[in-house]
Amino acid sequence: MTTTAPEQLDLQRAARDHLWLHFTRMGGYRDAEVPIIVRGDGCYLEDSKGKRYLDALAGLFSVNIGYGYGEEMGEAAAAQMRELPFYTNWSYAHPRAIELASEVASLAPGDLNRLFFVSGGSEAVESAWKLARQYYTARGEMRFRAARVPGQRVEAVVDFPEVHHVRNTNRYHRPPDESEAEFTAFLLDELEQTIEAAGPETIAMVIFEPVQNAGGAFTPPEGYWRGVRELCDHYDILLCADEVITGFGRLGAWFGSELYDIRPDLMTIAKGLSSSYAAIGAVVASDRVMEPFMEGTRMYSHGITFGGHPVQAAVALKNIEIMRRDRIVEHVGETRDTFRQTLEQLLDLPIVGDVRGTGFFYAIELVKDKETRQTFDDEECETLLRGFLSPALFERGLICRADDRGDPVIQISPPLVAGQQEFDQIVSILGDVLAEAWTRIH
Ligand SMILES: Cc1ncc(COP(=O)(O)O)c(C=O)c1O
Repeated sequence: MTTTAPEQLDLQRAARDHLWLHFTRMGGYRDAEVPIIVRGDGCYLEDSKGKRYLDALAGLFSVNIGYGYGEEMGEAAAAQMRELPFYTNWSYAHPRAIELASEVASLAPGDLNRLFFVSGGSEAVESAWKLARQYYTARGEMRFRAARVPGQRVEAVVDFPEVHHVRNTNRYHRPPDESEAEFTAFLLDELEQTIEAAGPETIAMVIFEPVQNAGGAFTPPEGYWRGVRELCDHYDILLCADEVITGFGRLGAWFGSELYDIRPDLMTIAKGLSSSYAAIGAVVASDRVMEPFMEGTRMYSHGITFGGHPVQAAVALKNIEIMRRDRIVEHVGETRDTFRQTLEQLLDLPIVGDVRGTGFFYAIELVKDKETRQTFDDEECETLLRGFLSPALFERGLICRADDRGDPVIQISPPLVAGQQEFDQIVSILGDVLAEAWTRIH
């Protein structure tokens, strides 16, 4: 049965009837109201009832310049719409894609000089592994396990990459007497063993985030990235830094790769590239990765209709212009210490075990027992995070994320224009709500 959109749409009703929210238990909205956000300004959002929220998550770690630049960004988009609303990067170039590629190449560290545009972070990651595989194929190697089928192109034989996972850089639950150097050695040893066990000749790419999001803002221990780079060099494996969150200022530098001297062969970027005012991402490749594709008839066999879309590119260009003009990255660098100090006040609470992260990218790990660092079990997480914390924080006007994909954490990642007033408000609301959570649990 089809339904027609009524002239005066009841947004609440229509949201419940027709919209499928991402990563959302839709059953929860059978009887409850769907939160409808209608406008934004600076670090703040407003819902359909006129209630204001401090967005301490910057959309999804992504609205780096905040919500206040719509006018300027809109003008850039409108001008591009008038000039050339769409053309493709399949075989053709157009000015905005060229300008944006040059601009990002000038900001990216080292010889990361070549951009392949896509529509977002997932496509960037997918494009990176396809590129890594084709890079080795172009060099006459096959860096994946594939049953050879006579008459078929090797690339057609395997559709998905085989993935091996290694430990993240979470130090909070490591033995207390382990030094940072020992932790780094432990992680690198595990990475090397994983490469050896899989067979280095089957591995095309190692991909990590400079600071890992899932599990809560895991910063690398000293020497980690240097060691990862050395292993990749030793085994001749491409290193990709997934900068979808960490790129464009979140850590107080344009890229995490610069901050940690990662020297990757590939970077994936999206979110902050346009501060999410447009749906655009890219794979950034180094000269070394580009080299085999410049030979003879070779090409990178991949393409996406909206990759390098001129309107999205115009918006991303304007975003970078604003970030430079308004010294957004510098602002993070200048205020990150006070942001950390403000957040660390929460360590006085018995439920807060760890405050970790850097720049404007933090996680607060919640524990049942601070001495033993004991975490909550699944049922307690369910009651605590979903049952109490998420609704209570939202009710108090703070948007952040309670996440239990690993140990339970609250993720804090405000727009990069946030200042002391916002830092204080985040800590004040979190402090009250977390104190109440502790009382309820006990
Ligand atoms: C590190 C990282 N890579 C890739 C992605 C996927 O990006 P998108 O949601 O734009 O597809 C995300 C999304 O949050 C991410 O955090």
